[in-house]
Amino acid sequence: MTIIIWFVLAVEASATEMYVFVPNIHWILVEDSINKTKLVSKFLAHCPLSNTHLNIPTPPDYKTTEKDPNWLKPRGVLQRNLGLKWLREHLNMSEVKGVVYFGDDDNTYDLELFEEMRYTKKVSVWPVALVGGLMVERPIVKSGKVVGWNTLWKADRPFPIDMAGFAVNATLLLKHQEAGFSLKVPRGYQESHLLKRLVKMEDLEPKANNCTKILVWHTRTEPPKLKQEQKLKIPSNQGIEV
Ligand SMILES: *[C@@H]1O[C@H](CO)[C@@H](O)[C@H](O)[C@H]1NC(C)=O
Ligand SMILES: *[C@@H]1O[C@H](CO)[C@@H](O)[C@H](O)[C@H]1NC(C)=O
Ligand SMILES: *[C@@H]1O[C@H](CO)[C@@H](O)[C@H](O)[C@H]1NC(C)=O
Ligand SMILES: *[C@@H]1O[C@H](CO)[C@@H](O)[C@H](O)[C@H]1NC(C)=O
Repeated sequence: MTIIIWFVLAVEASATEMYVFVPNIHWILVEDSINKTKLVSKFLAHCPLSNTHLNIPTPPDYKTTEKDPNWLKPRGVLQRNLGLKWLREHLNMSEVKGVVYFGDDDNTYDLELFEEMRYTKKVSVWPVALVGGLMVERPIVKSGKVVGWNTLWKADRPFPIDMAGFAVNATLLLKHQEAGFSLKVPRGYQESHLLKRLVKMEDLEPKANNCTKILVWHTRTEPPKLKQEQKLKIPSNQGIEV
């Protein structure tokens, strides 16, 4: 798994640039592995976006919590924390203004999302499709303010929101050095663990047309179906990096 932390600079995009790629964006790609893989290194070497390649493996064993017997390995915790550490060590906020978004390799993004989040004062939020057992999970907005959530899965969380549904002003992350993710919290609580140290619900900034528009889909990465491949004497990917 590769965690992608998008660092979106608060600089206006020109229309022509937009057609090429999202401008003023820095990718921090963090691989869940002991070593950086050649595949990702090569990909980044040819990537037109400015980027940083990091890696840290998820420890193979740690205890499940009593609170939540269904607790699964919290994927991406150490990877996202490493990304935050890098930002805190490398950003000089008197020179740079930006917004941090915790992406993932199992989401699909509309490029418009990055324009929406670019002007985040504290924490901005928007709907996410195909997550939490719902077609759309979203903040409820009244008079331009977030007043609640339509979430059903673990709805009593302080911030019942998916990782893909918010972005944070980088200055706020530098101000709250302790804010981050934890291997010790129950499943579904990573977002709340971070956000409760940064904002109150009334401070959230609804984006995507007052949270009525879908700009990100939790499409998941399925294990590929390779039944035909087994019939081959020579693998179809011989000499080809996939
Ligand atoms: C990781 O890299 C180190 C140093 O290059 C090497 O000794 C080690 O075998 C690598 N580990 C794996 C799992 O590839
Ligand atoms: C950050 O940038 C400002 C303005 O360029 C500079 O004065 C300051 O020394 C920089 N701080 C660090 C820690 O590099
Ligand atoms: C982020 O917060 C800082 C400090 O409040 C502010 O100066 C900056 O303009 C904010 N960034 C954006 C994109 O609004
Ligand atoms: C969101 O709602 C507020 C209050 O009703 C309104 O003033 C604002 O224009 C709306 N924003 C968008 C982008 O529709």
